[in-house]
Amino acid sequence: MVEILRANQQNLKEAGKAIRRGELVVFPTETVYGLGADATSDKAVAAIYKAKGRPSHNPLIVHITSLEQAQKYGKFDDRAKKLAAKFWPGPMSLIVKRTENCSLSEIVSAGGDTVALRMPAHPISRQLLEAANVPVAAPSANLSGGISPTLPEHVKQGLGDKIFMLIDGGACLVGVESSVISVLPNESVKILRPGSIDANDVAQLLGEPIEQSQQSKSAHDILISPGLLSSHYAPKVSLRMNVNQPHKNEAYLAFGKHGFSNHSLNLSPSQNLHEAAQNLFAMLHALDAYCVENKFSIAVAPIPNTSIGIAINDRLTRAAAPK
Ligand code: TXA
Ligand code: MG
Repeated sequence: MVEILRANQQNLKEAGKAIRRGELVVFPTETVYGLGADATSDKAVAAIYKAKGRPSHNPLIVHITSLEQAQKYGKFDDRAKKLAAKFWPGPMSLIVKRTENCSLSEIVSAGGDTVALRMPAHPISRQLLEAANVPVAAPSANLSGGISPTLPEHVKQGLGDKIFMLIDGGACLVGVESSVISVLPNESVKILRPGSIDANDVAQLLGEPIEQSQQSKSAHDILISPGLLSSHYAPKVSLRMNVNQPHKNEAYLAFGKHGFSNHSLNLSPSQNLHEAAQNLFAMLHALDAYCVENKFSIAVAPIPNTSIGIAINDRLTRAAAPK
């Protein structure tokens, strides 16, 4: 079982070396913990898929430290450059075409001609990327289909015997994964996965209306971004959304002024959506463990579908989808 290591100079240096040797290293970002490996190595990238049990048709996000580095691997048009200038470093992944001489493993693109690139803002991710000195492919550090990790303990429970190192960064501040935004030639800009940067932010910056994928399950969308597949982020027990009055065999995930005492957690008593996003996965992990033990299921209060609430409802919808 892997140890949870402090993010000190020495451990980060070791982690960088381990990545260059092809090992799997889990590290914190401001969104969720990432399961990192050298994105230029087929073997290292294949090990990510194996550890997560991830279907090989679902491509990975590659983490970089500068726009200059990003442009070695992806083609940035004016729209992509504007987005990068405004929201990087931060919780945004851009889907762009791979460059002709792109040295990233083709497996990160699941064999396609596009790549997802992200420059994280978390100081520990940045130090790790600098120590590794290679682009780092990193999906969320959970078993495929499960709840994403926002604490090192979540990672340990799910992947603890499959990874080489686990760097501690405490709780992740954003709490839901990066917004995935496609910026492809001759296509309008699309939000493929909602996150803390939303369609309004992007529309305002680019001065054009932005399409938001509506939890669509069509074959077409699955091909565009397999992470849109319905059941995902799923607890072991079943989950219902938009519940005001939970049944007696349900643990309740409240939002706002709900006064349920038994088996209930509150995403944000003050109805702050950012606080709710921060708490979402950790509370789902906790309620899931409780429900498995007590043969309960999970009921979740209605969450306003605005700003980061859109991302929260997106994750909950997938958590509620039949497996
Ligand atoms: O916040 C995050 O994005 C975290 C941290 C670790 O950076 N990573 C993350 O990775 O959430 P993952 O693998 O769990 O989700 C990546 C999403 C998936 O929905 C995948 O289908 C989509 O990005 N994606 C990756 N590459 C793509 C591509 N070339 N075209 C379309 N979608 C892509
Ligand atoms: Mg994921």
